[in-house]
Amino acid sequence: MARPSLLLLLLVSACAALSVADDDPMVRRFERWMGKHGRAYTDAGEKQRRLEVYRKNVELIEEFNSGGHSYTLTDNKFADLTNEEFRAKVLGLGAPGRAGRRAPRTENFAPVTMPEKEADDDNSTLPKEVDWRKEGAVVPVKNQGGCGSCWAFAAVAAMEGLNHIKKGKLVSLSEQELVDCDAEAVGCAGGFMSWAYEFVMDNHGLTTEASYPYLGVNGVCQTAKLNETTVSIAGYRNVTANSEPDLLRAAAAQPVSVAVDAGGFVWQLYGGGVFSGPCTAQVNHGVTVVGYGETSATGDEASGKYWIIKNSWGAGWGEAGYMLLQRDAGMPTGLCGVALLASYPLM
Ligand SMILES: *[C@@H]1O[C@H](CO)[C@@H](O)[C@H](O)[C@H]1NC(C)=O
Ligand SMILES: *[C@@H]1O[C@H](CO)[C@@H](O)[C@H](O)[C@H]1NC(C)=O
Ligand SMILES: *[C@@H]1O[C@H](CO)[C@@H](O)[C@H](O)[C@H]1NC(C)=O
Repeated sequence: MARPSLLLLLLVSACAALSVADDDPMVRRFERWMGKHGRAYTDAGEKQRRLEVYRKNVELIEEFNSGGHSYTLTDNKFADLTNEEFRAKVLGLGAPGRAGRRAPRTENFAPVTMPEKEADDDNSTLPKEVDWRKEGAVVPVKNQGGCGSCWAFAAVAAMEGLNHIKKGKLVSLSEQELVDCDAEAVGCAGGFMSWAYEFVMDNHGLTTEASYPYLGVNGVCQTAKLNETTVSIAGYRNVTANSEPDLLRAAAAQPVSVAVDAGGFVWQLYGGGVFSGPCTAQVNHGVTVVGYGETSATGDEASGKYWIIKNSWGAGWGEAGYMLLQRDAGMPTGLCGVALLASYPLM
């Protein structure tokens, strides 16, 4: 791809800084985008910096989309962030610099070859498609904001789903209680879904979103709320690592929390369709599988199968907050490591 010379780039950005907004179509597009996403910047300098990031992202999006993939990128709510800023802001799996409860070690799950027998496991009794949203087991998409609390959202969505399946009640539950009160986790600095389940087991329950609303910052634990045990779990189970067939069985029964590598610009700017990478198996984000399916829209058979991923980045990302992630992509870890660290609660 031909790149303009450095000099030309410098000239272009210098001109952009000086010129009146109207004669740059990107400025108009950026201002429409700001309006749509309710964005305001502290000063003209910051707006200019954000415009240049947005411009680069739009170029990236257009180049990617012209390549004809099974999914598209779009200038969603993260389009004014560099990929580094995005990664620092919206992930949160893990516990940097914390020697508390032992962290699950994904390195132990280095890709292995699936034994033939497991791959052949009979799945013929499983439905071809499952969508827990259609069963009324999924509350509207939430937004973790600038807090690394994905681990809480990923576990809470699985507990909300199981509560509906077992008790017939759809109740939105509190992530903030986990962020504030799980002494072992580090709140907005990260955690693991297994820790969230262990907290709810030890506390004999979790309260509602309404009673302990999400703030998106580390707060002091409201201990008076700990006895509001609206939903309790009997335990949780880990899905066999490196087994998409086992993940399929689990997801057919209930929503399942999973870990993925969501750090790339293709996740950042994902707009819709069956996501097929690139991504790695170095997981850094927690999300919830709320079903699976298959599309016949694409000629490429393999890219037709997907997991329905519920994310916690608000409805202004992906397909109204969801992603279709390619299933059975031909690697034991699953695409983006989706089959490495999956777990689900028990009631
Ligand atoms: C799930 O796996 C993690 C390690 O990744 C482990 O720490 C935890 O004890 C396991 N939980 C269960 C219920 O097996
Ligand atoms: C069950 O396994 C077969 C063979 O691996 C596969 O073609 C089929 O799509 C699987 N079923 C579901 C529901 O994914
Ligand atoms: C929880 O404990 C507080 C006192 O700490 C008490 O006022 C409240 O009634 C209790 N709530 C429930 C649901 O037991």
